[in-house]
Amino acid sequence: MRAPGRAAITAAHLRTDRWWLAPAGTAAGLLAFVAYSTWRAFANADYYASPYVSPFYSPCLAHNCQSMRGGPNADLFGSWWGISPAVIILVFPLGFRLTCYYYRKAYYRGFWASPPACAVAEPHRKYSGETRFPLILQNLHRYFFYAALLVAGVLTYDTALTFRDEHHAWGHMGLGTLVFLANIALIWAYTLSCHSCRHIVGGQLKHFSRHPVRYRAWRLVGRLNARHMQLAWASLLGVALADLYVFLLASGVFDDPRFF
Ligand code: FES
Repeated sequence: MRAPGRAAITAAHLRTDRWWLAPAGTAAGLLAFVAYSTWRAFANADYYASPYVSPFYSPCLAHNCQSMRGGPNADLFGSWWGISPAVIILVFPLGFRLTCYYYRKAYYRGFWASPPACAVAEPHRKYSGETRFPLILQNLHRYFFYAALLVAGVLTYDTALTFRDEHHAWGHMGLGTLVFLANIALIWAYTLSCHSCRHIVGGQLKHFSRHPVRYRAWRLVGRLNARHMQLAWASLLGVALADLYVFLLASGVFDDPRFF
């Protein structure tokens, strides 16, 4: 709006619709998730109810972590680690989502008003984009994508283990199994719909005709990518609900209904 050459319009913008609704709703949704996940990640309690482990606490890498085997998945961090084991792995899903192209748009608009909406000028006088610290770190997104693949793999393993009962016998299923299946399906859909994934799968090719497998994979990822925003929200809700389910079981609010 202040760029040289713009028409001299005194109004801040000419939009007459409720343009503020989307950024306000986005900010409210993200704040709610941040508040809930911070509470749960630092609670260091009620994150395991056999055979379910909260996705916020997996993989369990500290000695003080409870998991499927009653102990950590891999005791990489020894007994000196005294705070919540969720903090160790939080950086990967958090970094993945913070640097995600969609979430960047969401929180730039929702929290920084940069810009608040299309055709609405931002209040800041200077704009350096993502060319300086700290926003230049957004370029790490591709590496967070690789880490997110590993985390999704571990959560898939956790989901497979929900087909056991509390005595670790296979061939069982409870309501929690369905909750975990929905969660992992959403996590994979969100992860594979990533823009970096789309580029890794189909980028830097001159001829799709010579790479039919990559072409088909790229088309598939492209279809998911078109729904990236919806998948970002659905998977955020899914992971919170899976954690809440484990919390309710672990804190004794109700018992997991078992189907067989
Ligand atoms: Fe959103 Fe990669 S662009 S997860």
